[in-house]
Amino acid sequence: MIMENKATEAVKRRYNRIAPFYDLMMDLAERFRFSQWRELLWSKVEGENILEVGVGTGKNFPYYPADCEIKAIDFSGKMLKRAQDKVSQQKMKVHLQQIDVQNLEFEDNTFDTITASFVFCSVPDPVRGLMEIERVCKPGGKVVLLEHVLSANRIIGWLMNLTNPLVLRIVGSNINRQTVANVTKSNLVIEQITDLGVGIFKLIEARRKTL
Ligand SMILES: C[S@@+](CC[C@H](N)C(=O)[O-])C[C@H]1O[C@@H](n2cnc3c(N)ncnc32)[C@H](O)[C@@H]1O
Repeated sequence: MIMENKATEAVKRRYNRIAPFYDLMMDLAERFRFSQWRELLWSKVEGENILEVGVGTGKNFPYYPADCEIKAIDFSGKMLKRAQDKVSQQKMKVHLQQIDVQNLEFEDNTFDTITASFVFCSVPDPVRGLMEIERVCKPGGKVVLLEHVLSANRIIGWLMNLTNPLVLRIVGSNINRQTVANVTKSNLVIEQITDLGVGIFKLIEARRKTL
């Protein structure tokens, strides 16, 4: 347990450190495809009561559906501060909270849809985070994740495993996570996986079982 807390603190510190540069770092990726993929992710949400996990600096704000009640969480205070500045400037209706996805402070069965983009690459215990998502999602509710995962190609996968410690140290993100398998372990039911590019970028649509 103590190891896990240390890991969580280390990742949080890394995101606090990169928060001032995050939007700049993402600029090229957004122009490449990320903004299109974000739009696709948000086209999949259902219902009115939405939770975004790992909101970061608010890169998904432009794609939020109107007329929904959206809560957004992140465990990095500095990333959230950037998101809060955007909320204030754009007078958006989104409620931001500093919460760790591994310990969600919400009642069971709360949300119609829960989303995350590029988050489960860095959550220290991803299965625990996904189990928390499953708990606070309503029965039959939807979970939509945009993630990069370990390539199934043996050579690329080997390279990703080899360079993962360096990438993790610099940007706080693992490039060798097996998020599809992790979603399955959380008891969510996968409905669709869309391969968005080179077998690494995936849109994962899952659902909580009905009670
Ligand atoms: C790569 S950034 C992605 C940010 C945003 N979702 C995006 O698409 O630009 C990962 C985000 O997940 C957050 N995060 C990582 N682990 C978390 C956890 N255990 N609980 C809450 N947020 C977490 C980080 O603080 C960071 O803001």
